[in-house]
Amino acid sequence: MTHTFTIAIDGPAGAGKGTLARRLADHYRLNLLDTGLTYRAVAYALIQHALPLDNVSAAETAARQVDLAKLDRTVLSAHAVGEAASKVAVYPTVRRILVEKQRDFAKTPPGAVLDGRDIGTVVCPDADIKLYVTASAEVRARRRLNEIESIGGNANFAEILADIQRRDERDMGRADSPLKPAADAHLLDTSEMAIEAAFLAAMAIIDDVLAKRDKA
Ligand code: C5P
Repeated sequence: MTHTFTIAIDGPAGAGKGTLARRLADHYRLNLLDTGLTYRAVAYALIQHALPLDNVSAAETAARQVDLAKLDRTVLSAHAVGEAASKVAVYPTVRRILVEKQRDFAKTPPGAVLDGRDIGTVVCPDADIKLYVTASAEVRARRRLNEIESIGGNANFAEILADIQRRDERDMGRADSPLKPAADAHLLDTSEMAIEAAFLAAMAIIDDVLAKRDKA
């Protein structure tokens, strides 16, 4: 392959894009980057240094220090870190630093699956495939509650739902790189779809693009 292959996956928190991205990267043997972890790493660094999340210059320094090879999902996946990440993600200068690293990653052969909020619109506008994975806020909240309960935790559905709605508003409402489907994205609504079905639907879309390209 002379050209790297890029699959861009965007969508709101909890829609299942992370699992889908992992399955597709395995199947098509591509590198994988969960870009949410890069914003989480910036937020985590500020929290560790007891700095306020609106300290933009500290956030920029933390963003420059993000090493994509060292993103530790076990510490970064905490719910509070995700909340904090969506606050530092509003700063254009922080985004610019992280986006540059994400683009370099996408360009590394053989290519990559990247998931986030602005992959198809900003990070990789020329991606070979763009998927926008979504589900209703209620379904996403229910899944999150099931996840918490399956590891013995307990939580309140209404609180989770309110959290999800707040995060959606922040991600869709910000001025720089808001969450929205790219004009040429394929929409996958997983509200009524198990992850296996979403994977099969995504594979059908991708294989179709690959077949047309082979014929061209
Ligand atoms: O996907 P995840 O929940 O890990 O992302 C955490 C936060 O990082 C999101 O709510 C969003 O504000 C921000 N983010 C972003 N652009 C991306 C990925 C994540 O703004 N490409």
